[in-house]
Amino acid sequence: MTIRAQVAGVGHYLPERIVPNAEFEQTLDTSDEWIRTRSGIERRHFAAEGQATSDLASRAAEAALADAGLQPSDIDALIVATSTPDLTFPSVATMVQAKLGMQTGFAFDVQAVCAGFVYALTNANALITSGTARRVMVIGAETFSRILDWQDRATCVLFGDGAGALILEAQEAAGTPQDRGILAVDLHSDGRYRDLLYVDGGVSTNSIGHLRMEGKEVFRHAVSKLAATAEAALEKAGLGASDIDWVVPHQANIRIIAGTAKKLGLPMEKVVVTVQDHGNTSAASIPLALSVAKSEGKFSPGDLVVTEAIGGGLAWGAVALRW
Ligand code: UT7
Repeated sequence: MTIRAQVAGVGHYLPERIVPNAEFEQTLDTSDEWIRTRSGIERRHFAAEGQATSDLASRAAEAALADAGLQPSDIDALIVATSTPDLTFPSVATMVQAKLGMQTGFAFDVQAVCAGFVYALTNANALITSGTARRVMVIGAETFSRILDWQDRATCVLFGDGAGALILEAQEAAGTPQDRGILAVDLHSDGRYRDLLYVDGGVSTNSIGHLRMEGKEVFRHAVSKLAATAEAALEKAGLGASDIDWVVPHQANIRIIAGTAKKLGLPMEKVVVTVQDHGNTSAASIPLALSVAKSEGKFSPGDLVVTEAIGGGLAWGAVALRW
């Protein structure tokens, strides 16, 4: 008998304020046309003043609990993937725990920037398959608007705020590639690429800092590394790219998403794309896309879903799961 971490529920939350590309034309030498054609982004949501990452995360968590028909007390562990925590500590996860009124279990944050959700899913899978936890809530939540340099047109037009949540639950399975739940994971990081995507401040340097990115270089790494990690996760699962029903990629740039799909030999009909509406929401982008796709009725039980992401570190990885 094998224990698999199966999806029990999914949900998301987006802040009310929607900012179309045209709004940046008023303050920057940019255009709706440039942003659309170079990134695929049309609009993004920004958190209101006073609205913190834990607020967004809690709303997404509530939506996932409702979707699963569960109570906060049914959750054994809560993991938040974020690079934009409310405070240096405690973790956003413990704040969400309190906001949900959850007095049991344990909660912690994972920081792997845009790959954060894939890293958090991997942690959740390990907790479940080791018998440490039966139900794990995995949240990706970000307020990247707080770390953007509004004078830097090459970065500030690309990011957005939001949160998505997924509940994973232990289920007995046969131990075959046909099982529902997480089938395989593949993670990588390479700290030599630190300067390609980073925030130029932090706790031990006494500042908050702003996001800095060598976009072209990150782009170059993204397409090759994302296709390779997706293929590696599939191979570990005993499957191949032709078995994929849906790819749910990190939503950074439509050209990266399309380039990766092409490398995997997949038509765009099998790719979930939300970048036009959300921009790049870092660790929140995959659970947001999963939740939107589910609400559109895209997934059927038994569908093979592959998620893949890359971001600051560089850190990247993929998860193959059967819905
Ligand atoms: O989530 C983490 C991972 N992050 C990513 O995956 C992002 C990866 N990178 C990208 O998505 C793309 O590289 C960008 C969207 C950031 C940029 O697209 P690009 O095709 O690589 O453009 P570029 O950086 O080569 O810039 C082309 C031109 C430059 O002008 P010159 O030097 O050719 O005169 C830029 O200065 O576009 C200029 N530019 C802009 N023009 C209008 C840069 N930003 C803007 C802007 N509006 N907002």
